[in-house]
Amino acid sequence: MSEPLVKIRNLYAEYKTDKGVFGGTQTIHALNGIDLDIYKGEILALAGESGCGKSTLAKTLIKLETPSKGEIFYNGENILKKNPVQMKAFRRKAQMIFQNPYASLDPKMKIYDTLKEPLKINTDLTDEEIDRRVVVTAGNTGLDRDCLKLYPHEFSGGQRQRIAIARALVLNPEFVLADEPVSALDVSIQAQILNLLKDLKENFDLTFLLITHDMSVIKYLADRVAIMYLGEIVEIGTVDEIFNTPKHPYTKALLSAVPQINNQQKEKILLQGDLPSPANLPTGCKFHTRCPQVMLKCKEECPETSNIDNNHCVKCFLYN
Ligand SMILES: Nc1ncnc2c1ncn2[C@@H]1O[C@H](COP(=O)(O)OP(=O)(O)OP(=O)(O)O)[C@@H](O)[C@H]1O
Ligand code: SF4
Ligand SMILES: [Mg+2]
Repeated sequence: MSEPLVKIRNLYAEYKTDKGVFGGTQTIHALNGIDLDIYKGEILALAGESGCGKSTLAKTLIKLETPSKGEIFYNGENILKKNPVQMKAFRRKAQMIFQNPYASLDPKMKIYDTLKEPLKINTDLTDEEIDRRVVVTAGNTGLDRDCLKLYPHEFSGGQRQRIAIARALVLNPEFVLADEPVSALDVSIQAQILNLLKDLKENFDLTFLLITHDMSVIKYLADRVAIMYLGEIVEIGTVDEIFNTPKHPYTKALLSAVPQINNQQKEKILLQGDLPSPANLPTGCKFHTRCPQVMLKCKEECPETSNIDNNHCVKCFLYN
């Protein structure tokens, strides 16, 4: 594989929150030492239970959140050390699409202005060039000229997500972070939006970080998959490796919940207990409180990530 477009090393992020009725504050350990490479032109899917840190990772990558530790390189440059001018250039290249197209569009702005705004803020294009770019980008996402005169409330959820995608693409980005881009949409229109993302990726040579809990979406769109648990990546591999030869007990449990996708895994693996609180992380392997294959040392020591085959890596004592 070529050099990674995005290189994440030992990344940590935390939130301080109120403890509620007991008073005081607590620290939510949302990211706990993420190492991840995203290669140019690939769709890397990020999967894992609610609260495992997927959105935090995406937001940290575009500096909507600040990490407490670690490094993020984009095209070889450390984005955490960029000055405001360099940051502006980076923001043009990396764009995010959010889950909820109802919340992410300004209801008071016509679609034309919604698409024009990022160009006004981030580029020196003339009004004529902006106009051309808005119309072309709308067309590329399946929106005709007439749509541009309307307001968000005049569109369905699927059309709104097209508008949100157009807004992300109007700056001609290289890297798109899509956080559950279809999970708020009607099942009947999810496929259209997924196909749109697939076409855009091919036509504009985009690199995607695709966050989704839906394994069928991953199988349909992604090249590689990273599985997250309590702020760590516990397994990463190609779609083929993860679906056909999953290694980590957590990955196996996740896949067993969708038997029609993973033909080899017929029996559902039921995990014991709830997801531990990221405010109070388990010692040793963070999965040990729920792992069907837990061993004595898993409770005390944290496994390193081992390389199984090429780029298939797993963080579990069963493999190192
Ligand atoms: N702004 C915030 N303030 C405090 N805690 C937060 C904040 N954002 C996220 N968290 C906490 O950090 C942890 C990781 O959250 P995150 O939203 O990244 O998870 P996620 O994997 O995206 O979940 P989901 O699948 O539900 O979207 C969770 O425990 C969450 O409650
Ligand atoms: S290290 Fe131990 S507890 Fe963790 S996933 Fe592997 S077997 Fe399970
Ligand atoms: Mg999320």
